Amino acid sequence: MSHPSAPAPVPGGASLFGLAPDFTNLNHGAVGAVPLTVRNRRRLITDELELDPRGFFKTRVERVTAARHAVVGLVGADPELSSFVTNVTTGTAIVLRSLDLTAGDEVVTTVHGYGAIGYNVDAYAPAGVIHKVADMPLIPTDDEVVDGILAQITDRTRLVICDHVTSATARLFPIARIAAELRSRGVPLLVDAAHVPGHLPADVTALGADFWVGNLHKWAFAPRGTALLAVTPEWKNRIRPLVVSWEHEAGYPVAVEYNGTDDWTNWLAAPAGIELLTDLGPERVQAHNRELAHYGLSVLSKALNVETPDAGPSDLAMRLVFLPEGVGDTQEKCGVIEQAVRERLRTELTVNAFGGTGTMRIAAQIHNRPADYERLADRLPALLHSLA
Ligand SMILES: Cc1ncc(COP(=O)(O)O)c(C=O)c1O
Repeated sequence: MSHPSAPAPVPGGASLFGLAPDFTNLNHGAVGAVPLTVRNRRRLITDELELDPRGFFKTRVERVTAARHAVVGLVGADPELSSFVTNVTTGTAIVLRSLDLTAGDEVVTTVHGYGAIGYNVDAYAPAGVIHKVADMPLIPTDDEVVDGILAQITDRTRLVICDHVTSATARLFPIARIAAELRSRGVPLLVDAAHVPGHLPADVTALGADFWVGNLHKWAFAPRGTALLAVTPEWKNRIRPLVVSWEHEAGYPVAVEYNGTDDWTNWLAAPAGIELLTDLGPERVQAHNRELAHYGLSVLSKALNVETPDAGPSDLAMRLVFLPEGVGDTQEKCGVIEQAVRERLRTELTVNAFGGTGTMRIAAQIHNRPADYERLADRLPALLHSLA
């Protein structure tokens, strides 16, 4: 079997990051990696803050607003309908709180949804609110995704939460189609776009989902704790912050962004991440990442001698490698494999079991090279054998 060709490296590559040279990070999708220029920008902003802390705080609203205006273009969002939030989990909690759910209301998520998002649905649902989970296969067709969600819709559905790119299963869901179907039924949609900014082209305004929340700290090179929540105009005055502080009366988005004396230098430095991505060329970075992830998927699948159901090209820089039958068939065994890969092969990736099928999620970013996957492929079979 021949492998898809590996892409040429993007100039700068690993030297743009401060990752440990003796450790391989094949899990950029998990928590990202902050480039050195972005860390420097944040350090300079912090230094400026500490010269005159109170004076700096007085400029907070203007500075955060300017930073927001500078980053929304990456995802085609409206700066006045968007707010910085710490992460997708927080943005989701804000939406759930703002809905004022009552007994009998229904919220729909999918079986591919992120665990902590499901916890928030349960936490913000008063007694009597029903959390329904749309079922679908591990590798669903677009029709199976859409039909699985629509099968859960009733006249009591107050919200559907659907990932654009799923986490553990690395699926690209047909989100524009889902948004159109739900809009035609008058059902609000929250798009969990945790993996979208910087990873895929995005046009939040054109998508028109009621709520959209995406992390800038995964694929858009922003400092940790940087995400965007975007809403449609009809929700703007109904969004309430989780924490009420001095700018409470300013309403959305400023009220959501103002949380007492917290540290918001991460948001002020976020434009540096977008600048780096723009300098490198988002199309070039995205093409490199999806081609390298495809190459890695092919090399690893061959080494493990497994047929992966979606072995072809994909727009995603995260791919699912199936483990041989019986290997990693429980979550507990997957945890052991993940830890052994980390400690013995000095490689970071995610291992998960779905209905008895063990999978490894790999990712590709410009700090990765083909040799990262080839080295792992050379050593993984023996490691899995030793754990059997
Ligand atoms: C699909 C998805 N949703 C939500 C989250 C939560 O993101 P955060 O931890 O930044 O809130 C993640 C994190 O990996 C994710 O993959």
